[in-house]
Amino acid sequence: MAIQTACAESQETRILPLLNPQTRARHDLSKRVDTIPTFYAEMSGEELDRRIDAARQELGTRLVVMGHHYQRDEIIKYADYRGDSFKLAQMAAKHPEADYILFCGVHFMAESADILSGPHQQVILPNPAAGCSMADMANIAEVEECWQMLTEQLGDDAGIIPVTYMNSAANLKAFCGRNGGIVCTSSNAPAVMRWAFSRGKRVLFFPDEHLGRNTALKYGIPEHQMTVWNPKDPMSSVDAEEEIERARIILWKGYCSTHMRFSVQQIEKARAEYPDIKILVHPECRREVVEAADLYGSTEYIIQQIEKAPAGTVWGVGTEINLVHRIAKEHPEQHIFCLDPIVCPCSTMYRIHPAYLAWVLEALLQGEVINQVSVDEQTAHWARVALERMLATA
Ligand code: 13P
Ligand code: SF4
Repeated sequence: MAIQTACAESQETRILPLLNPQTRARHDLSKRVDTIPTFYAEMSGEELDRRIDAARQELGTRLVVMGHHYQRDEIIKYADYRGDSFKLAQMAAKHPEADYILFCGVHFMAESADILSGPHQQVILPNPAAGCSMADMANIAEVEECWQMLTEQLGDDAGIIPVTYMNSAANLKAFCGRNGGIVCTSSNAPAVMRWAFSRGKRVLFFPDEHLGRNTALKYGIPEHQMTVWNPKDPMSSVDAEEEIERARIILWKGYCSTHMRFSVQQIEKARAEYPDIKILVHPECRREVVEAADLYGSTEYIIQQIEKAPAGTVWGVGTEINLVHRIAKEHPEQHIFCLDPIVCPCSTMYRIHPAYLAWVLEALLQGEVINQVSVDEQTAHWARVALERMLATA
């Protein structure tokens, strides 16, 4: 099924995605080559497949390939493991025999794999420009400034637990590790929220405002005990100080542009057309979308719900289009469609193209590691503390 390209995000990424210098500058990649050789960029799909297959065979168990559910079919078919970000993090920790972990996903996922894998293992992100625009909405300087302002205002018994979504840079995970905090993913956010409130009075949740709010509501925190922290203008509201005093959860103003496309109107339209429809969305969607849905959860959860449903079920799904198309193809006995009529891929996930796989895999056969993602040891240590708290919790 062809992906329509009416949304701005997908325009830039048709064949070989562009390498965005701004995104690039923020990524800390040790050995990195930005320009894919023309030789690979111009290769036919069949030739790329042949080369990728041959390289995987030759590398055998020295290589493990991870594929996030949002990867396109041409990539996911090579994944030894498909999963949501939580499952892939677990898998990275469980494969000490592999010298190379080829991560078909985005930068923060590859960083987490590097942190959780052994020192003898190397993690490769085939295209270094595959970042996550939401993860880029919080940086360490802003988070440290926020922390300082909150602790100054609230005093010694502020009891703030920092919780970072998996979709964040390694130094933010390390910040959480150092400050008694934790990481969460969309599949374990409720358990992590319980963990945090059993240790503190307040949670600072970054970078996704919506996952934070949806999880807090589920935990029983009413909206008036939440406040939104805008890192660009933190104290802009006249009641800012009062709101912070009152808040049990401080939500970073960050979002996913793919999931912000879903609306209550789309859900109402789908329900009018199919009265028995089940609406299933990702928790990165806005509160009102999640509340209007029948079910919500991580990408893995979305797949599981559809897998166990009886034939003939109609689903309106609110998540990234490569995943929705794949589930629809794998379940022809059900009627599955994306709630957004202008179907839009996650433009950064889409930057992983088979040409990049062929390029980095053939380099490995020559003993060269291209586009390795490597987190420095001090950051990795504290990020691991926060990630391991999460793995022990959920
Ligand atoms: P999952 O953890 O549900 O795979 O979500 C990751 C993500 O980036 C969703 O936009
Ligand atoms: Fe980031 Fe959104 Fe893409 Fe997920 S879908 S990787 S949150 S930009």
